[in-house]
Amino acid sequence: MKTPFILALFFIGTIPFAQNHCPILPNPVTYTSTKDSIALDSLLFCTKSLSSTLSNSISPLGDLYILNKNKPLRIGREDGFIRFEELNNAYPESYSINVTKSKIILSYTSPASYYHALHSLFQLITEKPDHSFSIPICFVKDFPNFSWRGLHLDVARHFFSIHEVKKYLDLMAMYKFNVFHWHLTDDQGWRIEIKKYPKLTSVGAWRDSTVNDHFSTYPRTWDTKRYGGFYTQEEIKEVVQYAADRHITIVPEIEMPGHARAALAAYPAFSCTGKQQPVPGLWGVFEDVFCTKDSTLHFLEDVLEEVLSLFPGKFIHIGGDEVPKSRWEKCASCQNKMHALHLKNEHELQSYFIRQIDVYLAKNNRQLIGWDEILEGGLSPGAAVMSWRGMDGGIAAAKEGHYVVMTPGSHCYFDHYQGKSSSEPLAIGGYTPLEKVFEFNPIPKSLTPQEAHFVLGAQANLWTEYIPTFNQLTYMTYPRAIALSQVLWGGTKTSYDAFEQTLKKYHIPRLTAPNVNTKVSMSFLKPSMKFSREPNGLSLMFDGKDTSEKITVVSQQKKEGISISYGKKLFFNRSQKNVKHEKFTFSTACCTDSLTIISHRGLGAKVTYVTPPNERYHPGDLILVDGQFGARPWRGYQWVGFDTNHINITLELDRKIRLNGITFGFLNEPSSWIHLPNEITVRLDNGKMKTISVTEERTKLPIKGKTKSIQVSMKGLPTIPVGFPGQGEKPWIFCDELVFE
Ligand code: ACM
Ligand code: ZN
Repeated sequence: MKTPFILALFFIGTIPFAQNHCPILPNPVTYTSTKDSIALDSLLFCTKSLSSTLSNSISPLGDLYILNKNKPLRIGREDGFIRFEELNNAYPESYSINVTKSKIILSYTSPASYYHALHSLFQLITEKPDHSFSIPICFVKDFPNFSWRGLHLDVARHFFSIHEVKKYLDLMAMYKFNVFHWHLTDDQGWRIEIKKYPKLTSVGAWRDSTVNDHFSTYPRTWDTKRYGGFYTQEEIKEVVQYAADRHITIVPEIEMPGHARAALAAYPAFSCTGKQQPVPGLWGVFEDVFCTKDSTLHFLEDVLEEVLSLFPGKFIHIGGDEVPKSRWEKCASCQNKMHALHLKNEHELQSYFIRQIDVYLAKNNRQLIGWDEILEGGLSPGAAVMSWRGMDGGIAAAKEGHYVVMTPGSHCYFDHYQGKSSSEPLAIGGYTPLEKVFEFNPIPKSLTPQEAHFVLGAQANLWTEYIPTFNQLTYMTYPRAIALSQVLWGGTKTSYDAFEQTLKKYHIPRLTAPNVNTKVSMSFLKPSMKFSREPNGLSLMFDGKDTSEKITVVSQQKKEGISISYGKKLFFNRSQKNVKHEKFTFSTACCTDSLTIISHRGLGAKVTYVTPPNERYHPGDLILVDGQFGARPWRGYQWVGFDTNHINITLELDRKIRLNGITFGFLNEPSSWIHLPNEITVRLDNGKMKTISVTEERTKLPIKGKTKSIQVSMKGLPTIPVGFPGQGEKPWIFCDELVFE
């Protein structure tokens, strides 16, 4: 046992402080407390050091946890009452903290567990509004559930400086993550200096343009500013050490054989065609991938040799996802290799490619990990699998006895939207709110306990196509990463409501304090809005966790506000005259949101889908007449989607209205196979009919008359025209809001 490391905490006395639940996140395995707490001064005193590695951990931690940077928790040099005890033969990474009135004993088993314990200790210390500190009398016993507790970061689509990467690591350490998956190369940028191939960074790290808005927005526009950056090997070493000091292992990813356009822009000879192409500024999947010829494999081994010299961790990620086979099918060299090796198809050729890299890594004492596509064509013997297209790839690999990291898009893709509000910043798509992450279970039910042993843990992925800044990155990551840490550390599982309360009370204030200054998403606190049909239009009701709160609703036009409670209805009446667009702002203690309601004559009309929408895109029958056009970019849930090209809908009102026309909202997103209908026809009660062709997303069909019911019919293209993605297939039609003029 090493000499106890004595820290003194300036002791003031015991104060009563109701400590109802544990302030530590992720929740420890055991937490017991009395209602008492000890008041602390802002100084932590240290007399002796265990080792410089351990004592060096303390100082920066104090800075992360205090709220007021003018009164930091600091380390001095006097005797005190915190003792550190090293335990032998205890569960790896386990620690305990015992806070009594006379001393605090922190027991640990390893430098990593000591470090986790310090984070928990700091999370126990609360800072009051007068900036006095206190710690509850309590006992904490803790250890993790999973050994792979990961966060990923894509620095290829958007580049983050080493200063930003270090801050990302600081935040990870606060929540006991221990794997940083650094996605260093992709089509849009190569970010790691490789001395033998300087053009990888002099050419591959820079692109001349970047697509604006969502890549599916049509027509596309471009930002033509040169964009890029890379890390020198010295910078990489600095980050590797910084992570190691925080007990985080870095898993570097060098993408192959796909997502290689940046590398091929630098060295086109390693492609199948040899054609010189620029580093693209468009997101997606590209046909040009690494050729399977020997010279490419030698090049990649040279690259990996330098990568291995920089990253000491066991696992090396080689990508393997999204590899179109079209170039290999036409390449003489790839086809010769397939025949020479008696490979049945290009999937087996990919498997051969990955196997060569696996052999190289194994020879160098490392283990290959790749995205779940590496299962196709046969999994290489030493490979571990990162399951992203759901859990099935992970299940198959675990059943074959391969290690697995679960990172399914449904729960672990933090580039997805976390709220449904139209004020959420642009994201790639999807919907993964905090609660969904909290409910994630990395162990699928279909695995036996023996097979489940191969699931090392899970990880959230931060793809950065739509995350251009560090503020945006932390907004997308936090607090969802804290919910994931709860899943992965896996102490006592609380209810989601209790988790949310702890988060709101202790963690959001710390993360957003001026010294830590993290931009976090408060989407989880936003009240949800529920629209209902009413006799004369619509009502809106707010549903939220904190029902004591009031919501202030301000009409931008009238500049007047009202305050309403949760559960109370706000009415929007059907307009009798002209269509009115009225913008409202909704504010609660945490957040402000806005919404434009179009008061039109059909608001809340009864809608009958004679042609049923596709069930995945069927957000109800009110959506077409709820006074809001579907949001752009398309997120899936605010539009009615049809997978047929002949659609009939009936709309009915409780009495006759005078109609001048209907404005239709459609989605035109050919890249997602969504096209405008060719023509629309409207028929009134009295048999009056009108047909017009559709050329724009907003199309007004003028038709005058008094009517109670309206029949709408839409005709789409029979197939997607030549030259568009999905040509020859059946197109989709997406519609939202029928504005009755
Ligand atoms: C991936 O999201 N393409 C792994
Ligand atoms: Zn080839």
